[in-house]
Amino acid sequence: MFPGGPVADPAGSHHERRIRSFRPRRGRVTPGQGEALRRLWPQWGLDIDGLSRIDLGELFATAAGPRPGLPVVLEIGFGMGEATAQMAAADPGTGILAADVHTPGQGNLLALAERNGLDNVRVANGDAIILLREMLAPASLSGLRVFFPDPWPKKRHHKRRLIQPEFIELAATRLRPGALLHCATDWEPYAEQMLEVLSASPAFDNSQADGGYTPRPDFRPLTKFEGQGLHKGHLVHDLIFRRNDT
Ligand SMILES: C[S@@+](CC[C@H](N)C(=O)[O-])C[C@H]1O[C@@H](n2cnc3c(N)ncnc32)[C@H](O)[C@@H]1O
Repeated sequence: MFPGGPVADPAGSHHERRIRSFRPRRGRVTPGQGEALRRLWPQWGLDIDGLSRIDLGELFATAAGPRPGLPVVLEIGFGMGEATAQMAAADPGTGILAADVHTPGQGNLLALAERNGLDNVRVANGDAIILLREMLAPASLSGLRVFFPDPWPKKRHHKRRLIQPEFIELAATRLRPGALLHCATDWEPYAEQMLEVLSASPAFDNSQADGGYTPRPDFRPLTKFEGQGLHKGHLVHDLIFRRNDT
């Protein structure tokens, strides 16, 4: 589709079919997004093929060379990437590895990163679970962000929700002690599920002393999906948990 750009279903033939937390979303790629994909993907893009371990220092290399020891935060499901770019601009000393399957959003984030001179953003294409499980080393991440994951409101689809015990166990192995796991959702029943699953995990401690939700932190910009939820009158909940030493 885009010569040298992201490929469709990069891990499809190498990994067993699992219940996916996303739906394939084609979406229309604008000329600007297509141009960004063609030009910037070879430099800043990564297909999640599940085949090799990533050296994060190399992945975030700049013209000045690799950046070993750079703290790296994974964001799963960045959508159009506006919030991702803003958070990356506010924190240039942290690498942001942003994963999604949404091609227009990948192009949009690449274009935003270039326009704003962000050399700390890398865009991963494919299933972030395969990225975590097969491609990231244990204790390699300094943070994980999951903002407005697909709520899958129908009961028969609940198994597709990202935040559940198995995923949290996997995330715990990839996060180093002290790393923050930050989730946000505008779907009340999913917020309750997140709080229940995270509170039950021995690997994480709630950053809120009362064991509840975190007041919306001002460092998290409004996301596109959040804006739509607020417009519908939804309440938004943030949850910030810290990876402990266990
Ligand atoms: C509801 S959207 C929210 C996007 C954005 N965070 C926002 O708030 O506007 C959820 C996004 O997560 C992505 N997603 C869901 N599961 C994923 C997975 N396992 N790996 C990568 N992306 C995923 C979807 O493709 C979708 O773009």
